[in-house]
Amino acid sequence: MRRAVCPGSFDPVTNGHVDIIGRASRLFDEVVVATGTNPSKSRMFSPEERLEMLREACADLPNVRVQGFTGLLTTFCQENDIHAVVKGLRAVSDFDYELQMAQMNASLAPEVETVFVPTSPEFSFLASSLVKEVARFGGDVSGLVPPHVLAALRAKRAEGA
Ligand code: PNS
Repeated sequence: MRRAVCPGSFDPVTNGHVDIIGRASRLFDEVVVATGTNPSKSRMFSPEERLEMLREACADLPNVRVQGFTGLLTTFCQENDIHAVVKGLRAVSDFDYELQMAQMNASLAPEVETVFVPTSPEFSFLASSLVKEVARFGGDVSGLVPPHVLAALRAKRAEGA
């Protein structure tokens, strides 16, 4: 069984994430979408909210399951018999950070390989942080996130989050 993980904060999941997850699901037998927490990023949605939005976004992909994780990604991989980490690369600006993480993860768990997938051009500018910023100011992000995520962003705005 070739099993991969798509890790991320997914705060919230965007159409760019769904594109990468869908493509990973065609490369591997099983894909685990794992929501972790990047302490250097500010969050809008709770871990439970992020998981729920991801589950709905991936509902049409039968070989994809969604799970939260805490601690090191490499430990999660070892505990779940996962040997590949799939990350989307948008632009050269992503590369330095992603390469550093891939090499750190390889030093922690040499059996876990990182696979970079180039983002589809229509999503190359898309980032959860930008989506949140635009949505907070009432901008239109309807083409950038799944409909249920759009509704959740609007609800957060109404709450004043
Ligand atoms: O959405 P992000 O910021 O790309 O997600 C990053 C995330 C959560 C996948 C990353 O921070 C992570 O793997 N965190 C788990 C802790 C860990 O393993 N840190 C060492 C990374 S080299």
